[in-house]
Amino acid sequence: MPIYLDHAATTPLRREALDAMLPFLTEQFGNPSSVHGFGRSARDGLDEAHEKVARAIGAQPREIVFTSGGTESNNLALKGAAWAGKARGHRIITTAVEHHAVGHTVRYLGKFGFEIVELPVDRYGRVDPDAVEAAITPKTILVSVMLANNEVGTIQPIAEIAARVRRHRGILLHTDAVQAAPYLAIDVAELDVDLLTLAAHKFGGPKGVGALYVRGGTNILAQQQGGAQERYRRAGTENVAGAVGMAVALELAAGERDVTAARLTRQRDALARVLLALPDVQLSGHPTDRLPGLLSIVAPGLDGNALTMALDLAGVATSTGSACVSGSAEVSHVLTAMGYSEEEARGSQRFSLGRTTTDEEVAAAAAIATRVITAQRDAAARLEAVRQATLPRPMETAGA
Ligand SMILES: Cc1ncc(COP(=O)(O)O)c(C=O)c1O
Repeated sequence: MPIYLDHAATTPLRREALDAMLPFLTEQFGNPSSVHGFGRSARDGLDEAHEKVARAIGAQPREIVFTSGGTESNNLALKGAAWAGKARGHRIITTAVEHHAVGHTVRYLGKFGFEIVELPVDRYGRVDPDAVEAAITPKTILVSVMLANNEVGTIQPIAEIAARVRRHRGILLHTDAVQAAPYLAIDVAELDVDLLTLAAHKFGGPKGVGALYVRGGTNILAQQQGGAQERYRRAGTENVAGAVGMAVALELAAGERDVTAARLTRQRDALARVLLALPDVQLSGHPTDRLPGLLSIVAPGLDGNALTMALDLAGVATSTGSACVSGSAEVSHVLTAMGYSEEEARGSQRFSLGRTTTDEEVAAAAAIATRVITAQRDAAARLEAVRQATLPRPMETAGA
């Protein structure tokens, strides 16, 4: 059985979530907007899902908008806040290490006259809260900083950033909590954010469903027009089964969070001890303020995509970083923003452990990864030796 160490890309659906979803895919198939019994039964399921998700993050049920996932939640938050705030200003502040669902969305807004500020990060991927405040002008309407990074796991100081943002009037604060939600306690009041993104498939829920927390009284412009669903913030017949599965998975993840996080930290550190002992392998991301199950390494001289493929053949599923850029020639914008050279960034590998990861799997993966990295290094060194040996000598070049 292959070892799955790519939980940051997606997680297996929890049995409890599937069981809770099944009735809404079979007998309770009604449309929650219908007034008859079938509809009311679906509406009850959806209402309960709002309540559960809200409870898990310290919000009110009406502050939860179900969407089709993290990407849509980020789009709704950013475009919704930008268009609603346009009369007041046009400046949007974000960071250079956001997921593309934020980074590409703000760049898209840039085409419509919004001024986008992408703040730099330090070597560990952290943004300085004072730099966020320094970037604020009277025209600023929105700040978006992720809670935890999907490639290197670095946790951003959101509460400190919120404290700075609150010194200025009329600025909305959004955080993408897609990667953080399974492993960090999330309380919207403590974080003091106005908008927060969640995606079900990162914590044992189904794919294609997510939520956006919208603080009561926050004005965002709906991005799809049609029905009155989700209190006019997201038109379209709701994915009832998806919302129900998401709510159950989040409730369970929240209940187990401390135990899971402690175990993952131990397992991640055990894997790190082995891999970081290999020559020239470095940790990327913050050494301590990092997601418990995430280990991202940089092995200069190696090709991350080739390494992922070799690991897969050897029975370990990992990724070069974001699932979105895996397999492409694109170099991680996160690592380059952190100051890594293109060559270093090309040699990156992300091991993301999760709820189902066992100690035996970690030990086996560490041994396999050691073997594969060493073999790839040897092959790269042999290739370089051949290249050097066949390089035209200066004399030969001159004579040619
Ligand atoms: C930080 C972050 N934001 C947003 C997303 C997009 O979520 P979804 O796949 O549900 O659209 C991801 C997915 O990897 C992510 O890691």
